[in-house]
Amino acid sequence: MQIYFAPLEGITGFAYRNVHRQFFGDAVCKYFSPFAAPNYTHHFKTREREDIDPANNADLCLVPQILTNRAGDFLWAAEEMYAMGYREINLNLGCPMPTVVKKGRGSGQLGDLEALDLFLEEICRGMEQIPAKICRGMEQIPAKVCRGMEQIPARTCPQADSIPEKIRFTVKTRIGLESAGNAGRLVEIYNRYPIAELTVHPRTQRDLYGGKPDLETFSMFLEESRHPVVYNGDIFSLADFEKIRSRFPDCGAFMLGRGLIADPALARELCGGAPLQKEELRRFHDAVFQSLKASLPGQAPLMGKMKELWFYMGRNFSGADRFLKEIKKAKNEIQYQSAVRALFANCSFSR
Ligand SMILES: Cc1cc2nc3c(=O)[nH]c(=O)nc-3n(C[C@H](O)[C@H](O)[C@H](O)COP(=O)(O)O)c2cc1C
Repeated sequence: MQIYFAPLEGITGFAYRNVHRQFFGDAVCKYFSPFAAPNYTHHFKTREREDIDPANNADLCLVPQILTNRAGDFLWAAEEMYAMGYREINLNLGCPMPTVVKKGRGSGQLGDLEALDLFLEEICRGMEQIPAKICRGMEQIPAKVCRGMEQIPARTCPQADSIPEKIRFTVKTRIGLESAGNAGRLVEIYNRYPIAELTVHPRTQRDLYGGKPDLETFSMFLEESRHPVVYNGDIFSLADFEKIRSRFPDCGAFMLGRGLIADPALARELCGGAPLQKEELRRFHDAVFQSLKASLPGQAPLMGKMKELWFYMGRNFSGADRFLKEIKKAKNEIQYQSAVRALFANCSFSR
C-alpha cells in the first residue's frame, strides 16, 4: 500500500513539503506539487519554477503537476521538467475552481470529451519525443558539467549515453463536470493512452468539495480502468481510511490532501504507526513557521499561510474556537505566536 501527499495550491509548496518530509515523510511515497499553469509565453512564473527546482526538493520524491488544455504548452512544460530530472509528470484534470474551469482547464476539460481525447493524443505522442530530445541536448553539455552531474542522483540526470528514460505520465481526475453521467466514456478515453497511474477524486466539478465522494463511480473506475487507480478524497482519520480500504481492497494507493494538512502524522498512523502527539504538532508547527518565514516576502503572506494551515490543524483541539479566533486576528508575528502559545497551553488534543 502506498500513500501520496496530494497537491494543495497555496499550502503544500516546497517550504511546507520539506518540513513534512523531515518530520513525517517516511510513510509518504510521493509528494505532488501544486499545479504549474504554463501559457503561450513558455516561462514558468518565479514561484512555479522555485517550487519544482530540484535544489528545493532534494530530499523528497516530487511529482510536478501541469494544468493546461493546450498541448503545446503542456509539452513545453513537460520538457522543462524532464530536463530538470523529473521522470513522472502529472496532468491536472480535477481542479474545480471557477476561474480555472471557465478557461476549460482542470475539471473544465471533462466537459468536452472529444477535445480531451485529442489533447491526450497530442500530448502522449509529443511526450514520446522528449527523452531523446533532451538526451541529445545533453551530449552538447561540456564534459566538465557532465562529470559533475554524475554525482547528482539518477532522478536529476540521465547519463547522455544511456537509453533515455521514458516519461511516466500520470493523471489526476474528477469524475465529470456537471454529473458522473459520462464517467464510463471518460474511463474509455483514459484507457486509450499510456497513463502510468490514474488518481481519481470521485466528485464532479459541480460538487466542489461538498457532499460525499461518489464511491459507486469510483468502483466503476477501479473495475474498468486498465491503469492502476489511486483513490483520493475525504480520508481524514484512520476510521475513514479503513472504510475505504475494506470497500476497495484491490486499490493499492491512496492520495491524501486536507486530512494530512490537519494531521500531518496521518500517513504514519495509516501505516500502523503512532497517532499524532500534541508536542509533535507543536514542533512541526514551529518548523513550518520558520521554513515559510524564510521563503516568503514579509509578514502578511506568512500570516496568511499560517492561518490557512490552522483552518485544518485547528480540528485537532477541543474547545479551541476562541483561541483559533485570536490566531485569525493576528496581524504580525508577535500576536500570532502569542495566540498559538495560548492555544497549545489551554486546549486539549481531541484525537
Ligand atoms: C486549497 C486546495 C488547493 C488544491 N490545489 C490542488 C492542485 O494544485 N492540484 C490538484 O490536482 N489538486 C488540488 N487540490 C485538490 C486536492 O489535491 C485533493 O484532490 C482534494 O483536496 C481531495 O482530497 P482530500 O479530501 O484528501 O483533501 C486542492 C485542494 C484544496 C482544498
